[in-house]
Amino acid sequence: MRNAFVAGNWKMHGSRASVSELLDALISGVPRSQDLDIAIFPPFVYLPQVANRLQACVGIRLGAQTVSEYESGAFTGEVSAHMLQDVGCDYVLVGHSERRQYGGESNQKVAQKFSAALAQNLKPILCIGETLEEYEANQTQSILKNQLDAVLSLPDGIHLLKHADALIAYEPVWAIGTGRTAMPELAQSVHSTIRAYLASFDSSIAESVRLLYGGSVKKNNAGDLLKMPDIDGVLVGGASLDASEFIEICKQALGEKACNS
Ligand code: PGA
Repeated sequence: MRNAFVAGNWKMHGSRASVSELLDALISGVPRSQDLDIAIFPPFVYLPQVANRLQACVGIRLGAQTVSEYESGAFTGEVSAHMLQDVGCDYVLVGHSERRQYGGESNQKVAQKFSAALAQNLKPILCIGETLEEYEANQTQSILKNQLDAVLSLPDGIHLLKHADALIAYEPVWAIGTGRTAMPELAQSVHSTIRAYLASFDSSIAESVRLLYGGSVKKNNAGDLLKMPDIDGVLVGGASLDASEFIEICKQALGEKACNS
């Protein structure tokens, strides 16, 4: 059985005061269950503040929004996997479309970041997705395949996904921050294609890898997405900054996935 997973990507938002307020609300409001994993991804500078606060609290894990592919050295502005692990992160997003788009991250670079995370026992969430142009040109499958292949062609390939307890997040770029969510049936069909592709390498690993959907997920559409058999959880951006939205999405994840199991 695959546990439900809800991730909150705070992107470049917040202040010490707003982080503290949001955390208070989340800590008192999110449902706790062994069937549900929740992780939040604040900006780097607030990681220690959040880690401190989460120390005394069960049920919410910490992650970072990206990581350097290098171990250490003269890489001004970068943050290493060891540093993230050192301040209390369990997870890290790699290959988020905004990093690919604005940070020029290639598939190869994303794969290197994936490896760097693994080396420090961070669980990577590999983000993949096609742009609107690619979607309209019917290129979704080939784009996703290339993005997955970069990681699957690392030494140990598909087994890395299992060893790392890694997750894959499908986020169509045209749905991120646009209010335009993929229809649940469309998202399900892409997720099932991803799982089938993984199964062509190893069927039992494909069955166990959790696939998240992301892109304008809100409390109003999360339930329908989470009803889908191959959508194991959601990666929430904008709505994760609103405690009541995020708490409601967590409750729906628990409700839908507990009913399905
Ligand atoms: P969004 O962002 O929910 O604001 O669309 C999702 C993401 O970028 O992870």
